[in-house]
Amino acid sequence: MKQILINGKPQEIEEGASLLVLLLNNGQPTQRHSVSGANRCGICGMGICFECRVTVDGKVVRACQTGCHEGMEVWTDAR
Ligand code: FES
Repeated sequence: MKQILINGKPQEIEEGASLLVLLLNNGQPTQRHSVSGANRCGICGMGICFECRVTVDGKVVRACQTGCHEGMEVWTDAR
């Protein structure tokens, strides 16, 4: 199995699987916090709401539009 890092912790992945689904299935329903501190999570699952923003390898991306690949480093709480 291949691995990625999510907030510094190793996680096994299936190559190409949706990053948003991986986060949800692994108990991370909150991908970020709003400016007022409210939990935010992907709503649409198709790239429109931008609520699933995370940082992957230093770039802010939408988790629902990102496939997992070996060695990627994911940080939640992207702005
Ligand atoms: S879930 Fe809406 S943009 Fe990703």
